[in-house]
Amino acid sequence: MNSALTVSNLGLTIGGAKILEGITLSVNQNETLGIIGPNGAGKTSLFNLLSGLREATTGTIHLGEKEITNLKPHQRAQAGIARTFQTSSIFPFLTLLENVRIAAQVADGSSMNLTKGADKYKEVLYRASACLEQVGLLNKGALFAGALSHGDKRRLEIAIVLASKSDVVLLDEPMAGMSVENIPALVEIIRSLATVHKKTVLIVEHHMEVILGLADRIAVLNYGELLTIDTPQNVMDNPTVQSAYLGAEL
Ligand SMILES: Nc1ncnc2c1ncn2[C@@H]1O[C@H](COP(=O)(O)OP(=O)(O)OP(=O)(O)O)[C@@H](O)[C@H]1O
Ligand SMILES: [Mg+2]
Repeated sequence: MNSALTVSNLGLTIGGAKILEGITLSVNQNETLGIIGPNGAGKTSLFNLLSGLREATTGTIHLGEKEITNLKPHQRAQAGIARTFQTSSIFPFLTLLENVRIAAQVADGSSMNLTKGADKYKEVLYRASACLEQVGLLNKGALFAGALSHGDKRRLEIAIVLASKSDVVLLDEPMAGMSVENIPALVEIIRSLATVHKKTVLIVEHHMEVILGLADRIAVLNYGELLTIDTPQNVMDNPTVQSAYLGAEL
């Protein structure tokens, strides 16, 4: 099985505090890896290291065969890794279509100059529209993104990820703040990233039923260390995981 993403002995120390230590794992192509762990375990910090928002103190990161450990965030994005943020990161005063179009243009290596005539970007606009359609937002393409409901903003983020053409997608708590009735539809959209679009997906989520429904394997972080990475069933049955994190309810 080819590895889409490999991290080896990854560590992060900030101001003397060890945030992450000795993280070694590899994610297979087209796999969906769930990442769980208590608040402050280091999940977002791991994504920060993978996307280049923070520099690793130790270790290496490979995207496929390519080492990306020392690349800047935009270079990693071009290499094929995309992320959404725990808090929404869209441009509120641009329309939905413009938000997605920027990602599509950057993926094509062209500038993100929005002032150029729209007819110069027919292909990009077509692709941006297709991405909006895939998340059920095409009919809202002309609205300002800031006017969207929270749930629609999360969908827009997925459309942006799709437009970016990245092979590896990092989703940090995509269900955060969603009302319960809107969760199943977003789960299906996220599932399509792997099933339809053949992405490799890393998803941090506190909703266990979402992780269990989506993940091929689950990695458990605890106090900045990787407790285990295994099938959902084995993770749930793991006594160390139960006592360290999941508690008695599983
Ligand atoms: N810039 C920083 N400076 C110092 N400590 C930090 C910094 N960023 C994060 N931390 C600490 O690193 C640890 C891991 O934080 P992180 O945000 O990665 O956790 P998390 O697993 O994503 O938590 P949550 O489930 O609450 O999102 C926490 O103890 C946090 O306080
Ligand atoms: Mg977090």
